Amino acid sequence: MQRLIPTLRRDQVDEALISVINTLQICAKEISYRLHQGELAGVLGSTLDENIQGETQKKLDVLSNQLLKDILLECKHVRAIASEEEDGIVDGDESGDYLVAFDPLDGSSNIDINSMVGTIFSVLPTPKDGRSGPDMFLQQGTQQVMAGYVVYGPSTMLVFSTGKGVKMFTLDQTVGEFLLTRSDITIPAHTQEFAINMSNQRHWSPAMQSYVTDLLAGKQGPRGKNFNMRWIAAMVADVHRVLCRGGLFAYPWDSRKPDKPYKLRLLYEANPMSYLIEQAGGKATTGLERIMAVQPTDIHQRVGVVLGSADEVETCLEYHTRSG
Ligand code: AHG
Ligand code: MN
Ligand code: MN
Ligand code: MN
Repeated sequence: MQRLIPTLRRDQVDEALISVINTLQICAKEISYRLHQGELAGVLGSTLDENIQGETQKKLDVLSNQLLKDILLECKHVRAIASEEEDGIVDGDESGDYLVAFDPLDGSSNIDINSMVGTIFSVLPTPKDGRSGPDMFLQQGTQQVMAGYVVYGPSTMLVFSTGKGVKMFTLDQTVGEFLLTRSDITIPAHTQEFAINMSNQRHWSPAMQSYVTDLLAGKQGPRGKNFNMRWIAAMVADVHRVLCRGGLFAYPWDSRKPDKPYKLRLLYEANPMSYLIEQAGGKATTGLERIMAVQPTDIHQRVGVVLGSADEVETCLEYHTRSG
């Protein structure tokens, strides 16, 4: 089986970017080790702090963030980092060619129940127009040069794309290396599986409500087929399933908080996952437009997400355009 770095060299990935990916995989192994120690390492449970999103931070949110931040900032190719758990950006090496945005631990509510969680990352080029500060990160998802995630499940997997298809690596715990286990991932265009938090149904837009009502109507309904539902409550794990066997994943607009109608964050959740989904032949939209075409205005900006199997995403979009 092929090891990570030789695989990247074969794909002729830029050496500076290889160095960033190498740094990310070091962090992934460290976080994976702590997670697998679980309660034995005393890292479960919450802190007394809140992050910029108004969420109570778990000890592992903080620990993973600290690890990624410290290790990435030691890499001379990293100009700056942005994280779900940091209010602002943190500067690295002035001459670094890359910016890294990350969700250090996705699916925090799964930590204390020994269920799947992950780390999501997006790598952007450092703008060459003299911009500094958070503005450097305000680039469309189409500018990403690499994006991916680590999923800490029964095995730890590193999944990413540098624009040449999606590759999946599995951590061989015996030698401590990520080995290539799947490449050229392709998402089937059709699916009979969807993932959405159904308990929020009454708060969605009428278009989304009617789309899901029709999915639930099964074979006798307008869609003429039965659909299965899955919800792991960690985007990383739900998207991993979509990449493995197709499906539709959505976290849509919600009427409860008019000033905060979306849950998922553009820079370090929606954009990197959209990059992978598109690389695998799927579609990733806000419900109205391509996620990677959204011009960010804030590093912690949130966005609606409907992604996965191309034809199913299209069908969902038709419900939205029909309702105007
Ligand atoms: P995070 O743990 O990084 O804050 O992200 C959690 C997100 C996402 O991973 C997942 O899809 C969603 O929250 C789960 O939401 P519900 O609590 O509505 O299931
Ligand atoms: Mn969070
Ligand atoms: Mn997250
Ligand atoms: Mn998180």
